[in-house]
Amino acid sequence: PVTADLAGRHVVVSAGGTREPLDPVRFLGNRSSGKQGYALARTAAARGARVTLLAANSALPDPAGVDVVPVGTARDLREAVVRAAADADAVVMAAAVADFRPASYATGKIKKKDGAEPEPVALVRNPDILAEIATSRPREGQIVAGFAAETDDVLAHGRAKLASKGCDLLVVNEVGERKTFGSEENAAVVLGADGSETVVPHGPKEALADTVWDLVVERLPGK
Ligand code: C5P
Repeated sequence: PVTADLAGRHVVVSAGGTREPLDPVRFLGNRSSGKQGYALARTAAARGARVTLLAANSALPDPAGVDVVPVGTARDLREAVVRAAADADAVVMAAAVADFRPASYATGKIKKKDGAEPEPVALVRNPDILAEIATSRPREGQIVAGFAAETDDVLAHGRAKLASKGCDLLVVNEVGERKTFGSEENAAVVLGADGSETVVPHGPKEALADTVWDLVVERLPGK
């Protein structure tokens, strides 16, 4: 639908996957392509929104008419989200954020030592950005949405996650080998904090994106 139902609104979308460096050449990362987040940014722009896209390590081209902010680590992303969310009507966290990062960073490349066993990698928790924004709501009436990739018992885990994060909407998709990551298509159920459950059949990531914006628009307070 190319109705400008997001005209006059500022929306923030995170996309891609964070990378947590071990040393200057290595990182812990994930398989997120950024396609779903970019589809959210494009569709929001098409519906008239001012869009800030926080892009974590995605190889995709910048969508036209969108303000793209590149980020690397979860901590970079957190800073960018906090800055952009201050005046945002909606925040949609589609990025795959690393739950943990290496406890220390080696400023020189880590070397193998002859005959020695490798050192274990100690990890520490990253901040939960979605939970932070959802519980602090930097702008009144702001709608906050997250994504959850689940492999089993998808709806029960989704409901629990929605409640624990404190967001308004949670897009739950089933992942597994050859599902979702890097694919052009997605299938999901969007759970609402109000108890709503919207099934989005397998289809283009744009279709899921438009459904997310429909649900956001329904929940936005009038201007
Ligand atoms: O807890 P889990 O990683 O499954 O939650 C996924 C949702 O939470 C996604 O929307 C993701 O962007 C967000 N998230 C976050 N900060 C983290 C971990 C996940 O904002 N540290």
